[in-house]
Amino acid sequence: MAKNVLLTGGTGFIGSYLTDVLIDNGFTVSILSRSARENTSLITYYKWNLKSNYINEEAVLQADYIIHLAGEGIVEKRWSKRRKKAILESRVQPIDLIGSILKKNNKKLDAFISASAIGIYGAVTSHKICTEDTAPANDFLGSTCQQWEKAVDAIGTLGIRTVKVRTGIVFGKNEGFLKKVAPSFKAGFGAVLGTGKQYLPWIHVEDLCAIYLKAVTAPDLEGPYNACITDNTTNSRFSRTLANLFGYAIWLPKIPPFVLRIILGEMSVAVLEGQRVSSEKIQKTGLEFQITDLEKALVSCLD
Ligand SMILES: NC(=O)c1ccc[n+]([C@@H]2O[C@H](COP(=O)([O-])OP(=O)(O)OC[C@H]3O[C@@H](n4cnc5c(N)ncnc54)[C@H](OP(=O)(O)O)[C@@H]3O)[C@@H](O)[C@H]2O)c1
Repeated sequence: MAKNVLLTGGTGFIGSYLTDVLIDNGFTVSILSRSARENTSLITYYKWNLKSNYINEEAVLQADYIIHLAGEGIVEKRWSKRRKKAILESRVQPIDLIGSILKKNNKKLDAFISASAIGIYGAVTSHKICTEDTAPANDFLGSTCQQWEKAVDAIGTLGIRTVKVRTGIVFGKNEGFLKKVAPSFKAGFGAVLGTGKQYLPWIHVEDLCAIYLKAVTAPDLEGPYNACITDNTTNSRFSRTLANLFGYAIWLPKIPPFVLRIILGEMSVAVLEGQRVSSEKIQKTGLEFQITDLEKALVSCLD
């Protein structure tokens, strides 16, 4: 019988791609969502409401694997105190809730796999290359990722294999980061942000889904894995490449950091800073990235 993978956040950008990949690889997929949705022949939806701590327990009890992708968008809105709380709680609370059901029912999973982010290494720019052994940072993104991963580790104490996918900026067609930045570049107004020297570790959604699939199918994968291409792309290189693909050279001056700080507030660190991150650990498991060239990755994501 086909094994079932339960996705939280399965209706989002990464979740939608991953659903197709899992189904293509012979798994059945179920999705926990805040909104009621019609089941299809391939996907079963279950409801949860984190505000009232409600979850349809059946979703967890029928699952062989759980992949946790749910969470409020990190750069959707300015980081007010309330927004920061929502970003953190929407990632940690679901894990705690699922953990309580696993414990209550003495239910075992083949694995619990969760998104995390390279933000765990902190919003700074340096030439140092971060590996999974690099100490986590204590700024907002760093501490959010630490608490997110700590909740995953608590699932591990139930004797369940856990994997944490520390994800870089994900490229996909009309999705995520590119959905936000491509329109201004397309209109001829592309610009380098800040100094442009900040690193922008990226990964194509297809390669990211291959990591998740590997985390499901390879029982020896455990712990954190960085998920990004280690090609030293900076914001400047990214911006110039994207503008070139739209047929022009950037003519606007660099947008000064203080302007971005005024527009974005504290959240500006997410675009003004960026680390170099190594993905050697996941590649050593035998996984080969398919899309490693920045230009080719961007071309595949543009209309
Ligand atoms: N995209 C990237 O570049 C990137 C980079 C690094 C890390 N990640 C991480 O990867 C995960 C998936 O990213 P994504 O880009 O696919 O996100 P996404 O498109 O925003 O989807 C996230 C999903 O989470 C659910 N969700 C949102 N707010 C929620 C809340 N308050 N409570 C419960 N569920 C909520 C929504 O599902 P329903 O509406 O169906 O409930 C939504 O479809 C996230 O944790 C993200 O931080 C993404």
